[in-house]
Amino acid sequence: MKIIKTKDYEMMSKKAAFIVASQIGLKKDSILGLATGGTPVGMYQELIRFYQEGMIDFENVTTFNLDEYYGLSGDDEQSYRYYMEENFFKDINLKPENIHIPDGMADDVSAECDRYNQLLEAEGGIDLQVLGIGRNGHIGFNEPDTEFKVGTHFVKLDDETIEANARFFDNPEDVPQTAISMGIKNIMQAKKVVLLANGLEKADAIKKTIEGSISPQVPASVLQLHPDVTFVLDEQAASKLDS
Ligand code: F6R
Repeated sequence: MKIIKTKDYEMMSKKAAFIVASQIGLKKDSILGLATGGTPVGMYQELIRFYQEGMIDFENVTTFNLDEYYGLSGDDEQSYRYYMEENFFKDINLKPENIHIPDGMADDVSAECDRYNQLLEAEGGIDLQVLGIGRNGHIGFNEPDTEFKVGTHFVKLDDETIEANARFFDNPEDVPQTAISMGIKNIMQAKKVVLLANGLEKADAIKKTIEGSISPQVPASVLQLHPDVTFVLDEQAASKLDS
């Protein structure tokens, strides 16, 4: 496990972008696992800048997003597909056919989960998975009490997650209660993982993840068992760590 501590959000974003850019530099047809939320926005901006300056090329890259709200279509402004278009995809040269996000409108959720798992397997698995972390220690939408063995699945979101995500909605009652998420199994199968966290509100979750015992109550703690995981933290998120 590697821990990179940075001064602030901007430096966290730059370091994370360097890690993603090096991955693409070393393997131009990399398979990236991507996250949404507030945390990776700065990293996406840096990656767009690298692309515009000709430092990286997404032509042969494939992406798999971690999750999507259930019941939102891709053109809904609150959907994660919309977020990805707005914050990243519209400004780079990823091929649309190489972008994968669970379908939040699938009638048959279980078939959609199977399809996503099979696609991940057919593409040979993720080379580098980017993660954020919830205040409750979730990764993807694998909430506390999660089963470590499952792949992509249908989840009921925790009250704490619904409350945390309400900031992105005009009306808190509009926050979806369910989602489709890659499972811990998919995440642990990624060859490399980079987890980003910033702000004091993540400090407890980071401490439990890195220094606590491995437990389904803190889903991210399973990363202690991953052979190649890097935590990129700002000062505040790292502030409760012993060393
Ligand atoms: C998003 C995701 C979530 C977020 C987490 C942190 O695709 O899977 O696990 O990474 O909820 O969200 P922010 O960055 O908004 O604090």
